[in-house]
This record gives sequence, C-alpha cells and structure tokens, in this order.
Amino acid sequence: MALPVVNTAVTTPPLGNLPHDLEGAIEQLKRERNAIILAHYYQESEIQDLADVVGDSLQLARAAQKADKDVIVFCGVHFMAETAKILNPTRKVVVPDLQAGCSLSDSCPPDQFRLFLGKHPGATVVSYINSSAAVKAMSDLICTSSNAAQIVASIPKDKPVVFGPDRHLARWVAQKTGRHDMAVWQGTCIVHELFSARELARLKVEHPDAEVLAHPECDESVLQQADYIGSTKGIIERAVASPARTLIIATEEGVFHQIRKRVPEKQLIQAPGQDQSCACNQCPHMRRNSLEKLYLCLRDLSPEITMDEGLRTQALRPIQRMLELSA
Ligand code: 13P
Ligand code: SF4
Repeated sequence: MALPVVNTAVTTPPLGNLPHDLEGAIEQLKRERNAIILAHYYQESEIQDLADVVGDSLQLARAAQKADKDVIVFCGVHFMAETAKILNPTRKVVVPDLQAGCSLSDSCPPDQFRLFLGKHPGATVVSYINSSAAVKAMSDLICTSSNAAQIVASIPKDKPVVFGPDRHLARWVAQKTGRHDMAVWQGTCIVHELFSARELARLKVEHPDAEVLAHPECDESVLQQADYIGSTKGIIERAVASPARTLIIATEEGVFHQIRKRVPEKQLIQAPGQDQSCACNQCPHMRRNSLEKLYLCLRDLSPEITMDEGLRTQALRPIQRMLELSA
C-alpha cells in the first residue's frame, strides 16, 4: 500500500515589518495564542532562552505528547515537529521554517526503504526518530540516541533486526548490545560525520587533561577517541558532572549554551572539522530557524505541520512502543 506523503509544499514567508523588541513580541504572542514553545538544544541560544521546554529529541517528544496548549511551536527540524503532531494531533503544530530538514531523514526515502525491508522479511524494524512519518509508519519501534541501545536490547536475540537510517548510530548500538547481525540502512548526519579524527588527535595532545564527549552519530574514528559517548542530553549532563575542567565536544554547537549556563568556569572546545574554515558543527537545517521566523510563525500560525490521519496512526504505533519501553 502506498503511504501518503506529508504536505511540505508551504514556503517560508518573507521577513519584514518586524517589531523592535522581538523577544517581547514573541512572549506576548505566545500568551495571546495560548502556545508552548519547544526547542531542541541545537537551536540558537536566543531561541533556547525563549522556549518553555528545551530538550533532546526524546525529551521534546515527551513534552509534545503532554502539551495542553492550543498551539505547539516547534523550534527544531521537520521530523521533530512531525513527531509532535503524531503524538498530539488535536494541537496546531507550527514551525519557524518548514524547510528545516535533516540529512538522515532525507537519506531514507520511504519507497526505497520499503524495497530494503522487502529484502529482510520478518525482521523487527527499528527506525531512528530522525526519519519521516512514512518511514516511521513502516517500523516496529522508534528510537532516539538516548534509548537506541535499550530499544534494540529489548528485541529477542533470535529475531532479525533492521536498523535505519544512521549507520554510525547502528554501529555504536551493535557494540553496546552485541547485535552485530542488524541489517543497516547506510545514512549519515552531515554535521557529525564531518568531525576529523586526525585533528581531534592533535587537539588531545594540546589538551592532555581534556575529556572528549561525542554524539553516537560521529564516525567510528572519532568515537574511538571519546571518553563519553551519548545523546545530546547525555553530553550536557556529562559535561556538567565531569571532574574535567576542559571538555572537547563533538556534537552540534547549540549544546554549548546550556553547558555554559550550568558550568561557566569550564573550558569548552569544539571538536575540529576536516575543513578548519567551516562552521561544521552547526546544523544548517536547525539553523534555518531564527527569532524573526519564530515571531512570524506565532503571528501567522504558519507554516503548520499537517498530516494524513491514516499515516499518523501508523507512525504513532512504533513511537508509543518506544515511549512505553523507555518510560
Ligand atoms: P538527540 O536525540 O541527541 O536530540 O539528537 C538529535 C539529532 O538530530 C542529533 O543530530
Ligand atoms: Fe539531522 Fe544531523 Fe542536523 Fe541532527 S545535526 S538534525 S541528524 S542533519
């Protein structure tokens, strides 16, 4: 059965006629619209500071599920806002920029994923939350970087597993669970993949006492040099709790804001990219969102995430299973 595709045909409104005090105007509109603002840790610091809830993908899915406001303003990327809509369909879900995508989600077109699944009949399908609703609808279980190993470990050892779409997360999960037999979709994150193992090794020589924290979407050569590997939330918590005064961090730069707020005395160093001149550790999709677009989406209640109800209910089932398993 062909699954309907989510409508993403709305374009970003042109900016213009913006109030001088944007933050104040956003706060006022939020009250008038009876809205809640959810923001991922990869958003710019001004957006994080305005949000009612800042979190990683699992925390935000939970916050979206229990949101009781009329409007959910989701400052993150499309698959995250889509997950919010799947979990809380009676609320209006709006985003600052509907074109804020994700290389992992884009790497896994639903029709090709269906063909891949056809080669693995009977397998339990685990999809990373960084995937489209149509891919989720074909899955048995969803996972995030916070619970991926726990979700895979819940599957009986004699059951074949398909894991997608991030091959680096899959490799890390396989190491943690012993499930080296998983059939893996070969997607990657354009941000985490760009950290350079060679430059990181050089940086570690310069800072011998530093602790290296990395997200599991990084390449194996980077993860091998990490003292701690974990989700976005895990990295923030480890950075705060670590006895190390200097931290080298291999994930999106947005996490620095929360870490600096909690442990301003620590020295935070970005893990180097392969090209020293690029802002490699900023997700270009996440960074499409801005305060200006946040204001406009609250003012206009647009762009809105809409979805076919049949697709939504199919995508909901594996997300709910994940939330139950990682409660
Ligand atoms: P988290 O699950 O750690 O929030 O990661 C989401 C993501 O997009 C990482 O690149
Ligand atoms: Fe997707 Fe990578 Fe951006 Fe996360 S950082 S939203 S995985 S492109």
